[in-house]
Amino acid sequence: KVIVIDFGGQYNQLVARRVRECNVYCEIYSYRTGIEEIKAMAPKGIILTGGPNSCYEEDSPTYSKELFELGIPVLGLCYGAQLMMHVLGGKVITPEVGEYGKTEINFTDNSVLQKDLPKKSICWMSHFDRIAEAAPGFEVTASTADCPIAAAQNVSKNLYAIQFHPEVLHTENGTKMIYNFVREVCGCAGTWRMDSFVKESIEEIRNKVGDGKVLLALSGGVDSSVAAGLLSRAIGKQLTCVFVDHGLLRKDEGDEVENVFGPNGQFDLNFIRVNAQQRYYDKLAGVTEPEQKRKIIGEEFIRVFEEEAKKIGAVDFLAQGTIYPDVVESGLGGESAVIKSHHNVGGLPDFVDFKEIIEPLRNLFKDEVRKAGLELGIPENLVFRQPFPGPGLGIRIIGEVTAEKVKIVQEADAIYREEIANAGLDRSIGQYFAALTNMRSVGVMGDERTYDYAVALRAVNTVDFMTADSAEIPYDVLQKVMSRIINEVKGVNRVFYDLTSKPPGTIEFE
Ligand code: XMP
Repeated sequence: KVIVIDFGGQYNQLVARRVRECNVYCEIYSYRTGIEEIKAMAPKGIILTGGPNSCYEEDSPTYSKELFELGIPVLGLCYGAQLMMHVLGGKVITPEVGEYGKTEINFTDNSVLQKDLPKKSICWMSHFDRIAEAAPGFEVTASTADCPIAAAQNVSKNLYAIQFHPEVLHTENGTKMIYNFVREVCGCAGTWRMDSFVKESIEEIRNKVGDGKVLLALSGGVDSSVAAGLLSRAIGKQLTCVFVDHGLLRKDEGDEVENVFGPNGQFDLNFIRVNAQQRYYDKLAGVTEPEQKRKIIGEEFIRVFEEEAKKIGAVDFLAQGTIYPDVVESGLGGESAVIKSHHNVGGLPDFVDFKEIIEPLRNLFKDEVRKAGLELGIPENLVFRQPFPGPGLGIRIIGEVTAEKVKIVQEADAIYREEIANAGLDRSIGQYFAALTNMRSVGVMGDERTYDYAVALRAVNTVDFMTADSAEIPYDVLQKVMSRIINEVKGVNRVFYDLTSKPPGTIEFE
């Protein structure tokens, strides 16, 4: 494998993803990881990421010179490149001007990473400091107008420094450069593929679980569904999945999940569907405060799951659909520790009687989870499902939740999704849904006065769900959705499109 050493830059997970796109397995570690630990991992290559600091300042993240003397190829990106030069005797300065965005770059003929690629191209720059003098033994291999040393290499020692960001798609042939490093320079075979991952994971799960029992809370989301599929292939009926239908799912979603994982589906497992709709509606009656609604929905899930877990009795393993970004973001992998605030199953382990947690997707990025899902034969509509919050439609109905309002928003949302798919936009928009405002207004339909609800349509594009922009949906598509919702959904006489970005808005409504 290749390891990515994280110096706190914003693109670090992207670096790892690009490496994996080259069919090479890699993991992210903090720059605080000791040299002995790195040696013990015996990586075939090391990539140093960007970061927000100035490498020549005393308390900036750094790494000892030994790292470059292990005989393992090293690629430094941005801060990583500057650090490599600084540690090995070159010079890094803070110039008058930085360089940001798409930049024209010229490579020399002997650039190893640019082999067989155009000598003039576009790269993505995002730096203030720059390399002023390459370290001894290095030759300069690229330059831009404002950055005379945009790349350098020491071929005999297999050390490569790149000031720009090949991991960002705006860099032309960036992935190819990473390919040249991991496959050509490091000599990685390129055997990290989803079919082999699935096969190996099945073996691993069997070895770990033996004849033990595994319990999984299946939400119908991508991660828990793929975890269920994988575990089922490995251990069949030793797996029990509990799927709680809280009555706040999208239209027909409960049945879709049951069709795939239930007794008539293609997976061998014990499937328990709990129809808890009415319980939730009763608990939510009269409640309008958003945080209180969230709390009730979360707690009720624990109650229901607890009751089921008691019926099942002690299990050996509790399975969770944790994926690699969760691991990295909770500070366990890399350096950029943004702790996720949303978690559906926080607290679960407290009341289930189990010995150990099993997380079969712990090393996968989202797109890899999807590929594994397809490999396992999970239907595409489930595998490419957009994110759906744990509290479900409960936070897409402003104010009190009632069965009647759930029905309205389910129908409106189904129409919206259908038309977005008809327009071929379903895979290009990050997240989109209909919500029910708590507002009623006067309208006229036929010759009748109406006094009905207003539906809000939301669609956003986002990279990380921390910030988002409203998506540009063609006006005719919006118009069609509006007219269908008003004609087909009883109780709605007005449709709004939400233009708010995040911040200041959030993606959900409550
Ligand atoms: P917000 O509304 O916070 O949403 O901008 C950001 C992303 O998180 C999802 N979301 C949740 N996911 N439990 C979840 O599992 C929650 O309580 C929750 N609240 C928001 C939201 O759908 C969006 O993708």
